[in-house]
Amino acid sequence: MEAQKNLLLDIKDLKVHFDIAAKSAWPWSKPSKLKAVDGVGIRLYEGETLGVVGESGCGKSTFARAVIGLVEATDGNVVWLGQDLTKLDHVGMREKRKEIQMIFQDPLASLNPRMTVGEIIAEPLKAFYPELAADDVKQQVKAMMAKVGLLPNVINRYPHEFSGGQCQRIGIARALILKPKLIICDEPVSALDVSIQAQVVNLLKSLQKEMGLSLIFIAHDLSVVKHISDRVLVMYLGNAVEMGEGDALFAEPKHPYTKALMSAVPIPDPDLERNKHIELLEGELPSPMNPPSGCVFRTRCPQATAGCAEKKPQLEGGDVHAVACLNVH
Ligand SMILES: Nc1ncnc2c1ncn2[C@@H]1O[C@H](COP(=O)(O)OP(=O)(O)O)[C@@H](O)[C@H]1O
Ligand code: SF4
Ligand SMILES: [Mg+2]
Repeated sequence: MEAQKNLLLDIKDLKVHFDIAAKSAWPWSKPSKLKAVDGVGIRLYEGETLGVVGESGCGKSTFARAVIGLVEATDGNVVWLGQDLTKLDHVGMREKRKEIQMIFQDPLASLNPRMTVGEIIAEPLKAFYPELAADDVKQQVKAMMAKVGLLPNVINRYPHEFSGGQCQRIGIARALILKPKLIICDEPVSALDVSIQAQVVNLLKSLQKEMGLSLIFIAHDLSVVKHISDRVLVMYLGNAVEMGEGDALFAEPKHPYTKALMSAVPIPDPDLERNKHIELLEGELPSPMNPPSGCVFRTRCPQATAGCAEKKPQLEGGDVHAVACLNVH
């Protein structure tokens, strides 16, 4: 029998709605709501990688930031090892940074340009464990640099002296120095050259195995998450439209949006690639300030029927493979 997996994160119906100031100057005009995340739920188990995909603007970063408390959740729960993080104050949330860390899309911009590599990686350690001796800190930083493939002699250099890929290694070392249980990676390779992307993905994969980490790995491209994810969540306009174990989802995508994303992924075989049917999505991503009624995908869905404007589909089907579509099941 398969060993019982340990549930780390149980996110229920998470919503982040931003208030957007009214354009009109009339005092009675109300601010509008931008529904960046509109009811997303996931479960994440120990040692697991959840890939999150969807085109730019669909709410991936806002979702990630709400999990770690960088933006306030409007509604829903983020239950981390039995404790609801949305109920914690600033001090309580800060403590959780020992367990949950984040790495960002733009590696250089996310590093303080006035600090050396050694100082950047040491900073979280010094903040949480001020009693640690300087030698001890330095030793831990050097060990972490070796783990992420940075030579120890670059410890006194500054971020601008490094390539994008190396900057991301510095960001990873900084995120790992507190030995967290979960790292949320917000498009960590999107700004890197394709040749470097695989190196960074492979590094994260091997560190995950070695340290027993869980990852939430965000990308706008399905082909990037394919190699690293145990399960994949597909988001569209702030909603979860499909979620499934990688094999099941990639072998048999069910939601019309996932199918469209999938047909955009290049196939390595040139004959297959030439003959494949590309389901191009028509039209623009609607504004999250004025999302379509019923199913949010209906304005671009090739399978939409009249009922799709009436009822909002819910994600149904369980942990292995779930889809939110009124015309699939
Ligand atoms: N602080 C904010 N205030 C208002 N709108 C925001 C804010 N952050 C993000 N948004 C909006 O929320 C939507 C989702 O953005 P984001 O989460 O960055 O998407 P993604 O990461 O998938 O590209 C977008 O329409 C974006 O403009
Ligand atoms: S519910 Fe309707 S519009 Fe939405 S994905 Fe399914 S078929 Fe398309
Ligand atoms: Mg983003």
